[in-house]
Amino acid sequence: MRVVRTITELRQALAGAKPAAFVPTMGNLHEGHLALAKLAREQGGPVVASIFVNRLQFAPHEDFERYPRTLERDCERLQSVGCNLVFAPDETALYPEPQTFKVVPPAELADTLEGEFRPGFFTGVCTVVMKLFQCVQPRLAVFGKKDYQQLLVLRRMVRQFELPIDVDAGETARADDGLALSSRNAYLSQAERAEAPRLASTLRGVQARLKDGARDVAALEAQALQSLRERSWVPDYVAVRRRSDLQPPSAEQVAVGEPLVVLAAAKLGNTRLIDNLEI
Ligand code: PAJ
Repeated sequence: MRVVRTITELRQALAGAKPAAFVPTMGNLHEGHLALAKLAREQGGPVVASIFVNRLQFAPHEDFERYPRTLERDCERLQSVGCNLVFAPDETALYPEPQTFKVVPPAELADTLEGEFRPGFFTGVCTVVMKLFQCVQPRLAVFGKKDYQQLLVLRRMVRQFELPIDVDAGETARADDGLALSSRNAYLSQAERAEAPRLASTLRGVQARLKDGARDVAALEAQALQSLRERSWVPDYVAVRRRSDLQPPSAEQVAVGEPLVVLAAAKLGNTRLIDNLEI
């Protein structure tokens, strides 16, 4: 497995090779990321992963500076699952000049849920992913359902710009107690780590009640928020949405079994966690 640090080296390494399956990441890799690399490997061609902590998608008060950077271990892990090439640029390699051209996703997709609480986040994500796509020119890109809204926004970006790239989704990898794996779990204290699976169990509760025939989505959301607050979480949202566009379903759609997803974001101490479950 080769590790390259510049766009020039990347292009040289890719020249003449078959189009790759691509797994973009911000590093500090866990089993969830590795499962995406394994999915990419199943496509048969070369597998390229990128590791880049993208400043554009962090607000000034967020954790850009302290985001865990573990390049050496990440490369070992990628090699162990059969990745062929790692693109790990530093900031000046990917953004040699300020990235003032941006890819701005539409408000109806990107200003709700995560976008409401992290303004500009999806512009930062779309801009870096578009740029990485230009650099790697993959045939296929793999993203995780853990970041459900990100997956939807990027699928739409690929569709609307007619990028010749298939998008595959990997299921959310979880710890045995249900907590969705995330680089940010490393910020949790021992007590917070013990409490953290409640986010997933709260979503399972909403899922179970909808499957049992509950129809009052607003009441389910309110109960979920309340139960998190009682355990000293500070939730941003718990929301039942249509899978297709992440808009709220009508009562009629809930009744006729429209495919739904329940999504949540909440802070535990200083750590903000997100999770979701398809219903
Ligand atoms: P990062 O958080 O490192 O995640 C990289 C990829 O791994 C994303 O597609 C994400 O959805 C997926 N992933 C994270 N945790 C997962 C889990 N527990 N199970 C399955 N997949 C999981 O998402 C980003 O980086 C960035 O926004 C990026 C797309 C790289 C753009 O900077």
